[in-house]
Amino acid sequence: MGGARVETKSIWAASGATEALDARHAKAARSKQSKGLPGKWDCAGVIGAGVLTLILVALLAGCRSGQNSGSTTTPFTLPPPSLTPDQRADAVLAQMTQDEKIQLVHGAGGAIGSNVVIPLGATSWVPGIPRLYIPDLYLADGSVGVGNGVGPATALPSSIASAATWDTTQAYAYGQVIGTELRDYTINANLGGNVNLIGREPRDGRTFETKGEDPILAGKITAAHISAVQAQYVLGCIKHFALNDQETGRNTADAQIDERGMRESDLLAFEIGVKDSNVQSVMCSYNLVNNTYSCENSHLLSDILKGDWSFPGFIMSDWWATHSTVAAAVAGLDQEQPDDAYFTSLGAAVSGGQVPQARLDNMVHRILRAMFQVGLFDHPATVQPIDTATDGAVAQATEEQGAVLLKNAGGQLPLNASSLTSIAVIGSHADVGVLSGGGSAQVTPTGGPALTEGYPCPPCWSQVVWDPSSPLQAIKTLAPNAAVQFNDGTNAQTAAALAASTQIAIVFVSQWTSEGMDVPSLNLTDVIHSTPIDQDALVAAVAAANPHTIVVIESGGALVMPWLTSVSAVLEAWFPGQRGGQAIANILFGAVNPSGKLPITFPASVADLPHPTIATPPDSTTPFLVNYSEGFNVGYKWYDANNLTPLFPFGFGLSYTTFSFTNPSLVNNLTQSNPNFQVTFTLTNTGPVAGAEVAQVYLGMPSSTGEPPKRLVGWQKVLLQPGAQQQVTIEVDENDSSHPLSYWDVSSSSWLVAPGSYTVYLGNSSSMASLSLVGTFQVGP
Ligand code: BGC
Repeated sequence: MGGARVETKSIWAASGATEALDARHAKAARSKQSKGLPGKWDCAGVIGAGVLTLILVALLAGCRSGQNSGSTTTPFTLPPPSLTPDQRADAVLAQMTQDEKIQLVHGAGGAIGSNVVIPLGATSWVPGIPRLYIPDLYLADGSVGVGNGVGPATALPSSIASAATWDTTQAYAYGQVIGTELRDYTINANLGGNVNLIGREPRDGRTFETKGEDPILAGKITAAHISAVQAQYVLGCIKHFALNDQETGRNTADAQIDERGMRESDLLAFEIGVKDSNVQSVMCSYNLVNNTYSCENSHLLSDILKGDWSFPGFIMSDWWATHSTVAAAVAGLDQEQPDDAYFTSLGAAVSGGQVPQARLDNMVHRILRAMFQVGLFDHPATVQPIDTATDGAVAQATEEQGAVLLKNAGGQLPLNASSLTSIAVIGSHADVGVLSGGGSAQVTPTGGPALTEGYPCPPCWSQVVWDPSSPLQAIKTLAPNAAVQFNDGTNAQTAAALAASTQIAIVFVSQWTSEGMDVPSLNLTDVIHSTPIDQDALVAAVAAANPHTIVVIESGGALVMPWLTSVSAVLEAWFPGQRGGQAIANILFGAVNPSGKLPITFPASVADLPHPTIATPPDSTTPFLVNYSEGFNVGYKWYDANNLTPLFPFGFGLSYTTFSFTNPSLVNNLTQSNPNFQVTFTLTNTGPVAGAEVAQVYLGMPSSTGEPPKRLVGWQKVLLQPGAQQQVTIEVDENDSSHPLSYWDVSSSSWLVAPGSYTVYLGNSSSMASLSLVGTFQVGP
C-alpha cells in the first residue's frame, strides 16, 4: 500500500505540476484582468511564475544536493496514512536538512512592496520539497469567498450574515463553498476564520468578516466554516490571535486586558473555534497584547494556545507581523509570513544556541503534521471549474436566512405584488448591484464586479466593489404589474419627489468598510465619494415624502438610525453577496420569511459604547494603549451590566409569523463528572406563514462570580409550518468547549463552576422583555 501511494505522489510531484501550474496561472491572469484592481501588495503579473517556480525548485534541489549528506542515494518513501499525522511528520522531518527545515518556516511572498510573483494569485506561498513529496503551500484569503488574485469566485454574504443565520448547518455550507472553490483553484491553505470580537469596537472596519460579539456564537459559526474548509483538504486558519479588535493603529495598538476578561471573551471564541474544528493553523495578530506583540507573546502562543488548548497545528504570523527571530521562535511562532525577514536567520540562531534545535524541529513538525492531518499530501487538487450554480444558491440561502428584519410597522412587509402599481427604488447603486467589504477579504465575484469606485483613504489600498446582483431587477421581476423607477439617491430632493409619486419607497443605504480602517461613527458615513452623500438625510427626506418607506441597509455591522421612527420597515442585509439582490427581493415580497437574528448589538448611540472614542496612535511606530477595561463585558453583556437600552438587542430579529414558547421546563444533571442541564419547551408557529425561530437560552450566574447579568449558553433554530408545534430540547453541557457554566478562575488558572444559584431564561432575543424565566438551580451548598 505504502509503495503504491508513493508512486502516485511521485507522479503527481514530477509531471502533473507543470500542467497544473499553467492552468492556474492562466486563471490568475484572468482573475487579475477581470478584477481590474491592483492587489493589496500587487504582484507584478503572473507570466513567468511557472518559470520562477521551476527555477526555484531547481535551485533548492541544487542546494540540497550540496548540503544534505544522507538525502540523495536512497529514495524517500512517504510514510503511509496508516500512521498518525504526528508519526508521518516525524518520519519526514527525520530526512530534512537544516536548510529545508528553514525553508518551511517562512513564506516566499517577499517583503512589503517587493513585487514578488506569487503563483496562483495567492497571497503567499511556501515552496514544497519535491524529494520528500512535501507539496507547495499556497495561502489565500477567504473569509467571505476566495480572495486575493486567485480568480473570480462566489462572493458570499459577509461572515457576519452567516453568523446572523444562527445556523451551524448553513454555516457549514458557507465554509464548503470557500473550501471547494479554493480547491478548484488548487489553493490548499485558507486564511479565513476571522473571529475577532468586534463587539468591543463596532466601528471596526473588519466587522463584516467576523461573527459578532458573542464568543460562543462566534466560535461555533467559525468552527463550522473551518470544518467545512478542511473537509475539502484545504488547510484552515483561525485569526487574528488575539484582541485585534480595532483597525486604527493595528500595528502598534497594545490591548490591555486582564486574564479573566480575555479568557471569557475574545479567547473563548478562539478556544471554541480551535477545539471544535480541529483547525490546523492559527494566525497571530499585528497588535500587542499586554505589552508584547502577539506574534512573540509566549503567554498567548505557548501557555494558552499550545498549552492549555493543546493546539497541535502551527502558528503563522499575520503579514509582516513578525518582529524578531529569537523572541518570536522561542515564544511559539512557527511560521513567518509572507516573507523571511526574521526566520531566515533561524539557522544562525540555532547554531548560536539562542533557539534550541528542538524548537526549530517542533516548528517544522507542526507544519508537516498540519499538512498530513488535513490531507494535503494524500489529496492533491486538480484545477476544476467553479460550480457557480450550487455555490450561488448557498450564497443566496445564507443571505435569505441571515438578513435581519429590524422593524415592520403595521405589517408593511411583506409587500403584496398584486396590489402594487408603483415603486420607487432609491440609492446605493441598487440598479446594478450590492456592496461588498474591502481589504484582504475582498472577493472578485464571478462575472466581474457590477461597479468599482475609488480607493477610499484610509485604507487607501482597497477598492470599493459592488457585486453583480441588482435589487432593482429582482424587485421588477417580483412586482411585474408595478412601474418600478430608480433614483440614485445622490440628491435627497429628487429622491423625495419620486417617492412622493409612488405607493412605496425602498431606500437602499450603505456603509462601506474595509480592513485597514474603522468607520468614524455609527451614522451612515460616506467614505467613498469626495462630496459625501448624506444618506441619513436622504432617508429622512424620503420618509417625509412617503409614509411607506422601507430601508434596506448594506453594512458591515451596527449602525445608529436617527430616522428610525419615521420609516415603516428596516431590513439589515449586511454585505449581501452576489445573489443578494434576489435574496433581498424575496424577503421584501414574502417569498422568503426572514429568520436572521442580530449577532451584534445595535447601540442607541456611540456614547453608549465601552469606548465612545477610538484610541488613536501617536505616530506609526510607537505602541499605544487600548484599554479594554470592560474585560468580558462585550456587546450585550456591556449594555446589560450598565443598564443601557440598545437600539436593537443582540439576538433580535422579526419574522412574518409569530411564535409561542410554552411549557418550559428545566432538567438539571449537575453531577460532578458531566454537569449539564436541559431546557425543554414547546415552540408553536402561531401565525399565518411558515417560518423559523431561533430559540435562545441565557444563563444568569451566581452574583458572587461578578459575571454580567446573563450569557448566551445555547440556541436552536427551528422551522415550523403555520400552526405546527415542536417539542424542543436545548442541552447546555459544561464539558462543551464553551465552558457555559464556568468562570475563569485566575488563581487556579482554570475554569470553575461557582457555587450558588443559577437562573435560566428562554426567549428570542437577549432583551429581558423577550425572555421568560425557565427556572433556577443551585450548585453546591
Ligand atoms: C490581514 C490578514 C490576511 C493577510 C493576507 C493581512 O493584512 O490582516 O487577515 O490574511 O493580510 O492577505
